[in-house]
Amino acid sequence: MKAQIVFASMTGNDEDMAEILEENLQDAGFDVKNIDVSFADATSYLDADLCVMVTYTYGEGVMTDELKDFYDQLITLDLSGKKFAVMGSGDKTYKDHYCENVDDFEKAFIKCGAVEVAKPVKIENAVDDEDIDLIDQATEEIVEAFND
Ligand SMILES: Cc1cc2nc3c(=O)[nH]c(=O)nc-3n(C[C@H](O)[C@H](O)[C@H](O)COP(=O)(O)O)c2cc1C
Repeated sequence: MKAQIVFASMTGNDEDMAEILEENLQDAGFDVKNIDVSFADATSYLDADLCVMVTYTYGEGVMTDELKDFYDQLITLDLSGKKFAVMGSGDKTYKDHYCENVDDFEKAFIKCGAVEVAKPVKIENAVDDEDIDLIDQATEEIVEAFND
């Protein structure tokens, strides 16, 4: 099974999340590609069985230019038959905008026809041990969905 992870990260927190998920999925037998959104083309999801977006949220939920470009490409795709998961890091002090871009990408994948196979993982700032547990749990949900 092929997994395509795309991550958006400025200070490294989301990159760390993506790397943990990448290792987990490799351990579960997936052929994983993990790429920074700055170098990614959303069409790379077309070649994957599992599509994952790991994203920051900055600016009270308004997407950065690089994220918006990627999002605009993504929403043109037909991803029916594919499975997806989203996760990301934010900060609860931003209240209603907490991890808002994670929600944006969840909605986008649904619009593209993909099926969500893990509860979105939202963490605060840097990854800690409890956050690793959440990523591990999401991995288990993903693996189960492929075993069904
Ligand atoms: C200027 C600024 C704006 C931010 N806006 C939001 C926001 O709207 N919502 C949110 O959940 N987090 C917000 N954050 C927190 C970051 O998303 C959080 O620190 C995240 O871990 C950064 O991820 P990264 O290390 O992958 O870049 C903001 C942080 C900064 C510095």
